[in-house]
Amino acid sequence: MSEIPVIKAALLGAGTVGGGVLRILEWQRDEMPKKLGVSIELKKILVRDKTKKREGIDSALLTEDWQEILSDPEIQIVIEVMGGIEPARTYILEALQAGKNVVTANKDLLAEHGRELLDTAERAGRDLMFEAAVAGGIPIIRPLKQCLAANHITEVMGIVNGTTNYILTRMTAEGMEFSEALARATELGYAEADPTADIEGYDAARKVAILASIAFNSRVTFSDVYTEGITKITAADIRYAAELDMVIKLLGVARNTEGGIEAGVYPMLIPSSHPLASVHDAFNAVFVHGDAVDDAMFLGRGAGQLPTGSAVAGDVFEIARNIQAGSTGKISCTCYKNLPVKPVEEMRSRYFLRLKAEDRPGVLAGIASVFGNNNVSISQVIQKSASGGAAELVVITDQVVERHFRDSLLVIKELSMVKEISSVLRVYG
Ligand code: NAP
Ligand code: HSE
Repeated sequence: MSEIPVIKAALLGAGTVGGGVLRILEWQRDEMPKKLGVSIELKKILVRDKTKKREGIDSALLTEDWQEILSDPEIQIVIEVMGGIEPARTYILEALQAGKNVVTANKDLLAEHGRELLDTAERAGRDLMFEAAVAGGIPIIRPLKQCLAANHITEVMGIVNGTTNYILTRMTAEGMEFSEALARATELGYAEADPTADIEGYDAARKVAILASIAFNSRVTFSDVYTEGITKITAADIRYAAELDMVIKLLGVARNTEGGIEAGVYPMLIPSSHPLASVHDAFNAVFVHGDAVDDAMFLGRGAGQLPTGSAVAGDVFEIARNIQAGSTGKISCTCYKNLPVKPVEEMRSRYFLRLKAEDRPGVLAGIASVFGNNNVSISQVIQKSASGGAAELVVITDQVVERHFRDSLLVIKELSMVKEISSVLRVYG
């Protein structure tokens, strides 16, 4: 019997995701030769502190010295699961330049330096794969780059942050306020000790930048994505949404419009009947619209050791196949266009405005006339009596240009009859 070839790999990082990759490669050890025609063997694992106790990891593999991996010609695949910008960026660039293939789960890095990394991979004729960087275990990068490549994609929209989806789900299901739901998410390990990147929408914005770049074949970076988080959402907003038969979700939205790319992350009211409304807890989902495929939705776990490890290990398998076939570097950067990205003021949306105003004749007419003067058409109004002679008003607009809505709001805020602007949210449709 002929011997099964072995491809050697190195892991950079042995934390949550690295631990998952190790377990999956071990589970797949006997299957690999049959699936891939090769075995994949981890030769080195880079960590910050190799004296730290690590359950289930062979300490002989650990190193704190990147050069040991870089200079080892046997290592053909580098798996970067350390996170952060530096030294991850330098290590990936050096690995590619040294002729190694790279898998990374690092959305922070890709959303800022994707072009540089992909250009380097292309020049080196090597693979750089990053399925785990968006929506963890959900296959979405390869489907966009390969399976849906024959489409003109006009929209990618989704729930791409599990922590915030968990928080909003608890607020909706149990009537909790934001702070209580965040505390629950922290207790259960969904939210990190510093949850800023999740609750302020930055994590989702990085994923939107990556998705939009691939879907629209044009580079979108983190700073191009307009970002609002969920910290101002209240139980009252959620109740109003329910009255309107809607739910509030933190959505990442990217559209390829005639005037340029619109890319944003913001909480949005969506109809309860929309498929994304039933994506609960820490689950993620990505909705894609293409001219040929029509609508397609991808659903699953957006984080966690094994789901994320699954995406990373899948990339490693794909690279092993490419190495065998001598076809690494076959699919590199797909951003061959240079489309403009619209400023948020020029984007279009429907809006939900909740405010407290004096409860007397003429108040509604006054607010409506400000909107009318600014080209903002109103679709629905709900009025409720609040305490102390005040009325709570909810105004939902038709689709309008953000600049027009913002101009109206500046005037409405200053009206003597308006006591408080309680919330401003976007509405689907
Ligand atoms: P983590 O648990 O903090 O693990 C990081 C690992 O990298 C640790 O083993 C650490 O070594 C090592 N490391 C960090 N900086 C290093 C350096 N300068 N030199 C050598 N080793 C270094 O992180 P994680 O949650 O696994 O996340 C890893 C990556 O996956 C990130 O890019 C993250 O955004 C991405 N990701 C994570 C998830 C998830 O569910 N966690 C999902 C999708 C994507 P020590 O152990 O010695 O400290
Ligand atoms: N913190 C992210 C989330 C997971 O809550 O979805 C890592 O991308």
